[in-house]
Amino acid sequence: MKNIVEKFAIKGEVMDIKPLGHGLINGTKKSLMILMATLMLSGCQQYKVESEAGVSTVLLSRDKIFLLLPIQEDRGEVQVRVADGTWMDVRLAVDSADYYVPLSLDGAKKVEIAGLADSAATWKLLKLSDSFDTTNKEYYRPEYHFTPTYGWMNDPNGMTYLDGEYHLFFQYNPYGSKWGNMHWGHAVSEDLVHWTQLEPAIARDDYGHIFSGSSYIARLPQGESDPFTASRLLPGDGTEGDFIASYYTTHSNTAEPGLREQQSFAVSLDHGRTYRKYGAPVLRGDGRSDFRDPKLFWNEQRDEWGMIVSADNEMQFYASSNLREWKYVSAFGDGYGVQPRQFECPDFFKLPLGDGEKWVMIVNVNPGCWFGGSASQYFTGSFDGDSFVCDSPKETVKWLDWGKDHYAAVTFSCEPKGRVISIPWMSNWQYANDLPTRQYRSQMGMPRELFAFQQDGSTYVGQRPVAEMLPLASEHRLECEIADGGRVILGNTLGEKVVISCHDGRIYMDRTKSGIIPSPDFETVTWIPVAQLCGVKPSYQLEFWLDKCSIELFVEGGKASMTNLVYPSETLTILTNEE
Ligand code: FRU
Repeated sequence: MKNIVEKFAIKGEVMDIKPLGHGLINGTKKSLMILMATLMLSGCQQYKVESEAGVSTVLLSRDKIFLLLPIQEDRGEVQVRVADGTWMDVRLAVDSADYYVPLSLDGAKKVEIAGLADSAATWKLLKLSDSFDTTNKEYYRPEYHFTPTYGWMNDPNGMTYLDGEYHLFFQYNPYGSKWGNMHWGHAVSEDLVHWTQLEPAIARDDYGHIFSGSSYIARLPQGESDPFTASRLLPGDGTEGDFIASYYTTHSNTAEPGLREQQSFAVSLDHGRTYRKYGAPVLRGDGRSDFRDPKLFWNEQRDEWGMIVSADNEMQFYASSNLREWKYVSAFGDGYGVQPRQFECPDFFKLPLGDGEKWVMIVNVNPGCWFGGSASQYFTGSFDGDSFVCDSPKETVKWLDWGKDHYAAVTFSCEPKGRVISIPWMSNWQYANDLPTRQYRSQMGMPRELFAFQQDGSTYVGQRPVAEMLPLASEHRLECEIADGGRVILGNTLGEKVVISCHDGRIYMDRTKSGIIPSPDFETVTWIPVAQLCGVKPSYQLEFWLDKCSIELFVEGGKASMTNLVYPSETLTILTNEE
């Protein structure tokens, strides 16, 4: 399987498609008008454009790998499809192109475009090509955080490990750098630090968008040969024949509200390179319109599969022996934590604590978090195989991270060393679509190992960078102490700065003068209740991880963390405690 960079490195001639006669197509609502044009370009290339009732068909007579689509981000979406495939929503250029995205033709000779004005610049700007340039064009592209080569990304999905590879799937729009057309993008890594992006693993289809979900390594029992008909599926142990079982939410914009979101099953027998979808979704909810983001786990107590799914303002547990037929088991969460809020992207796992263990439920919440917009909340407690019982009162709110840019955090399944490792999406729904990059938008936070600890009788979850990050520490990590009443400033020669201060039992991070402020919601001071989480101390240990446009702060070995984006015009290299 080629990785995406290899694929786009294929060199070839680039041919312009001219909008021959397209501007002439007016008032075509009823009658079919066919315009045929012959274009002499670098050796007799030919195409035709046919238009009918607002749908234009570009008929290509040359075999090329891509049709390059010109995007203008502030324009509305129109619909584009290859051959008779699924319609994708694309912000095609009306006046001029901000950038291009590649539409894979896969041998097809026909592309349809619906809803685009005859006068749109796109008709002059489409290009047929055998290559797509993915060379980085962005100043703010991170050096060691995962970003897609191009296109939009949000939540991490389906993270798992098989045969020496960590898999990171993610919410991905390959047709523009704003949210839309949800696919599962895909990247693999041997060390959680260096990622190779592959082609999208699961594409939006006629059932709907491929929303967030999870994966688990599974295997067939003896005597069974097909994961979609087997009477039982077992958790895999990494031996030959194991496959990736994935669950995602099919989100349909056109279904009636109660069926807008349903859970779908797919398997990959070739390490995530290709997927076989079961087809129609297999689990529908109880009629709520928000029912999504299934997380699979192996339920040891029941000796069968478990799934936790967000259902509006609660989390629901289901059980299955074959990963196709699910029984409702229980629900948790109504009235718990920050209120009243939409639950999303659950996770559910055990962490060791002292001589025992604690169950942790991650509940990503949007909107309305303490610093505005989206954030990752969690609950700790016990689980008897059927129901989760929280060990804190309903009104207790625990955040996994105290910054503004830590969302949709979920963990890897089947991690070979038994670690619980999460990756957050490093953004916030309040402004994610407006961040100052164009070739791609959004990045993942660094992988973090989660651990449970107790402070003053309460159980908390901390997170520290995975050990694999350590080789990068000399270049990207800064360590210091902050005294109660003290401050630390990260700045540059232009006077842009991020101010970290400690007083009244809190550690604050002020990014209001850190450079570009892409939205008023970005102009924030976030804080950690450090005395509550780490105890009252004369000073606290700080560990900063810096990249082009992010600061990840870990306090006291990760008992508290704070993840914030920053867009300084020049790198922040000056560490001082004076204004
Ligand atoms: C969270 C989320 C999920 C959903 C996905 C859609 O960020 O809203 O609940 O599956 O994004 O892209």
